[in-house]
Amino acid sequence: MSGPNTEYDPVQVTPLDEEHVTAMREQALAAIAGAGDLEELRAVRTEHAGDRSPLALANREIGALPPQARKDAGRRVGQARKDLTTALAARQAELEVEAEARMIDEEAVDVTLPWDRRPAGARHPITMLSERIADVFVAMGWEVAEGPLVEAEWLNFDALNLGADHPARTMQDTFWTEPAEHHLVLRTQTSPVQARTMLTRTPPIYVVSPGRVFRTDEYDATHSPMFHQVEGLVVDEGITMAHLKGTLDHFAASMFGDGITTRFRPSYFPFTEPSAEVDLRCFVCRGLAPAVADCRTCKGEGWIEWGGCGVVNPRVLVACGVDAERFTGFAFGMGIDRTLMFRHGVSDMRDMFEGDVRFSTAFGSDL
Ligand code: DAH
Repeated sequence: MSGPNTEYDPVQVTPLDEEHVTAMREQALAAIAGAGDLEELRAVRTEHAGDRSPLALANREIGALPPQARKDAGRRVGQARKDLTTALAARQAELEVEAEARMIDEEAVDVTLPWDRRPAGARHPITMLSERIADVFVAMGWEVAEGPLVEAEWLNFDALNLGADHPARTMQDTFWTEPAEHHLVLRTQTSPVQARTMLTRTPPIYVVSPGRVFRTDEYDATHSPMFHQVEGLVVDEGITMAHLKGTLDHFAASMFGDGITTRFRPSYFPFTEPSAEVDLRCFVCRGLAPAVADCRTCKGEGWIEWGGCGVVNPRVLVACGVDAERFTGFAFGMGIDRTLMFRHGVSDMRDMFEGDVRFSTAFGSDL
């Protein structure tokens, strides 16, 4: 049984007096102002305006007060809680604006940053040039033929009239594979593609075959044990050296421009008769005195060797099953690496094969 209500004695309700309520209010307002982000403000809201906050607990006490005290305390606490609600809403709005600004700032994309931090690879200039060469011939209606890099000795040599005693068959030039009785070599030239083509197709034959070849050469500025050739072969009725010359002049012009000067020099290849070597006017000294005398590019020759060619030896036609009475042909084999060096002023062959992408990218995506 409770006793009668006594007169209002402020001393008995200290937590609800003005000083305390003000203190709680000030503390809460300070905490709200001090909340640095929405997360902190959420914690401040629970602590100072939640169900178990000092002001909420004080509010619960009000009911127990005598009427006059209840009225005063109710007004004080009510006002303090209202102030907190207002302050919380204001701070919330402020922090939301800040958070949004921060997010925009953090998510901003700097369009000036490099977009391709992993540089893309580049097609190798030799690959691009090989395709371009093939295109020159495909545009004339020729076909592209291919052969394997590991080739039968017979196709690399015998079928091409390179007899067993030919110097190119000694160990010095050729990479032989083991076991020796398999008679396989790394092809030393693209010419075996000629034999393969004649054995599998019937004339008229118009084929071009760019590809890799191997020789046991030193690796220096002008030699490499792996290099590239493009082979050409035509077998048809009435083919002469004149067709060969016209074709190679067109090929040279499409590689080096109309102003290029070529020279045909009598030569010898077992698979052609007659044979010639094709030279290009040196692009550095142009064969003009006195520069030509000290020209390092052509070594004082005024000309640079481009490749070999000739009228297909009837013995090769016969070995490959072609009727040599009815058909004649011409063939050529040009150095693709030389073409690239000549066309683009590459002075060291090793730059082409060391796989440094900076060499390739310098050529752009097309030649
Ligand atoms: N295969 C020869 C070489 O590697 C180049 C060559 C000469 C190819 C004359 C031919 C040709 O087709 O007719 O030196």
